[in-house]
Amino acid sequence: MNGLKILSTGYYAPQQVLDNFNLEKMVETSDEWIVSRTGIKKRHIAKEESCVDLGYQAALKAIKNIDKSKIGLIICATMTPDYFTPSNACLIQEKLGLNDQEVMCFDLNAACSGFVYALTVAQALLQNLGDKYALVIGSEKISKMIDFNDRNTCVLFGDGAGALVISNGEGIFASYSNSAGNLDALKAPAINEVSENHFLTMAGQEVFKFAVKVIPESINAVLKKSNLTLDDVAYVVCHQANYRIIKNVYKKLKSSEDKFYMNLQEYGNTSAASIPLALAEMDEKQMLKPGDKIICVGFGGGLTWGATLIEWS
Ligand code: ACO
Repeated sequence: MNGLKILSTGYYAPQQVLDNFNLEKMVETSDEWIVSRTGIKKRHIAKEESCVDLGYQAALKAIKNIDKSKIGLIICATMTPDYFTPSNACLIQEKLGLNDQEVMCFDLNAACSGFVYALTVAQALLQNLGDKYALVIGSEKISKMIDFNDRNTCVLFGDGAGALVISNGEGIFASYSNSAGNLDALKAPAINEVSENHFLTMAGQEVFKFAVKVIPESINAVLKKSNLTLDDVAYVVCHQANYRIIKNVYKKLKSSEDKFYMNLQEYGNTSAASIPLALAEMDEKQMLKPGDKIICVGFGGGLTWGATLIEWS
């Protein structure tokens, strides 16, 4: 069994909504500019809640109807953990009341590719965990590293979390992961770094060009590995960064918008949370049926990129 079974999903977004009209009062921008350049209309911002809290809420929903004693692995994909150590994953384990069982817990930082990387790592580790389950979470509180005076970044990002419980299974699983070390395209300095600027900065156009190149490359790589074509795939869930990036991709692949799920208009770019949040939302809307093939594709800081092809179960 080298495949994957998806047992359940969950997502969570903080209550407070910051829409484009709120941002118009904070920086020199407009709803028209943000919507036409990105597709984003609003984002959710965590005030009191930490990144662990967001991940915990998503995980709680994901494990609601499953046998918790079978969870043997928790991975939290994040670039905004509460602490360098302990990991978000360990703190979520504690909050879920899973301290008394054997669980491997760690965080994984591959920026916005984090969840795709985490699924790949979890699927590989499950091969040695028998009938145990893996809880794979993407959780981000990006608002804490955003300069809300910088219109280049503050209009793009939001907070949120999503989670999947997976196990070994018969469902198809293919993955492709890649990176190219680059500090300047997208960075968020460590909080102890001696620097005036502790905020996330990004070379927007460079990241845009990188994204429209590596997303089709990643999609084609997992299609090739699984001997499928895009016609065999029910949905592509891209990292939710920008509507124009996704549009560029489906045009390049001669596909159509209805195959490319989008919820960036509601949440903005939630980094490693965006893909599991989208999958859990699609699950809640009952858009997915057993046997559906889905490609998840991420790109982001690192620079990192990659895709997984999964079969809904
Ligand atoms: N409101 C109004 N005007 C703005 C804003 C804003 N919020 N931001 C920039 N502008 C202005 C610029 O100053 C510029 O003005 P100028 O022509 O007078 O110089 C003009 O708008 C155009 O700016 P560009 O940067 O060329 O705008 P572009 O069309 O490239 O859109 C954007 C910018 C949305 C950031 C785009 O480049 C993009 O989406 N890039 C990819 C970003 C991305 O995906 N990041 C996620 C990476 S994932 C991760 O790991 C976190």
